Amino acid sequence: MSSPVSTPVSNFATPILTTNRLTLRPLAPGDAADLYAVFSDPAVVRYWSAEPWTSIACAEEAIASALACYREQSEVRFGIELAATGGLIGTVNLHHMFPKNRRCELGYALASAHWGKGYAVEALGAALDYGFHELRLNRVEADIDPRNAASSAVLERMGFRKEGYMPERWFVHGEMADTINYGLLRRYWDERGGR
Ligand SMILES: CC(C)(COP(=O)(O)OP(=O)(O)OC[C@H]1O[C@@H](n2cnc3c(N)ncnc32)[C@H](O)[C@@H]1OP(=O)(O)O)[C@@H](O)C(=O)NCCC(=O)NCCS
Repeated sequence: MSSPVSTPVSNFATPILTTNRLTLRPLAPGDAADLYAVFSDPAVVRYWSAEPWTSIACAEEAIASALACYREQSEVRFGIELAATGGLIGTVNLHHMFPKNRRCELGYALASAHWGKGYAVEALGAALDYGFHELRLNRVEADIDPRNAASSAVLERMGFRKEGYMPERWFVHGEMADTINYGLLRRYWDERGGR
């Protein structure tokens, strides 16, 4: 589905999207325990400039922040639910929205028990399709640690291109860490046939 790029969108609702194995949906207060399990795992935040969560209050704060985004329609923040079990296994966000420039950033994480099963490709595909075709974004950016091979592989699989390199951009668990800047344009996405 294609929308005219000339029509700007300024409200960014978080809908329910379904894929073969996943449901992407707004977070809810009942997700706190599952969300805590994801982000309290040091492996998940290995390449982030943030420590693993140490209290369920961190999850409750993240959910409160997401609920505020839903009220204001300011950012898209999906919980990723495994359709077979109904359990929340991660998140994918379209955030740092610049409506006038039709641009935002992409962020994602899955519980480590669910890595390597193609879930990131499935979830990001649905979120990006929504971003480009319903929200009429023109460009999505991602910023990742060069050592994060899984994240690079996912982005390149989705059609993102390497656009830049910024040395020592983040302080990550006691050391400075570089950034690779990735970008995906709507026309690249459409040329490759979407997800
Ligand atoms: C990055 C992350 C979401 C990938 O999730 P995933 O569900 O395991 O990814 P998928 O199974 O969909 O794999 C996607 C591609 O990456 C490749 N891949 C996955 N893990 C990899 C690894 N460790 N090294 C190299 N390639 C890897 C897969 O082979 C696949 O490529 P293919 O489709 O061409 O075969 C997951 O590792 C994660 O949550 N990491 C911690 C959070 C994080 O780093 N988020 C990004 C921060 S910007």
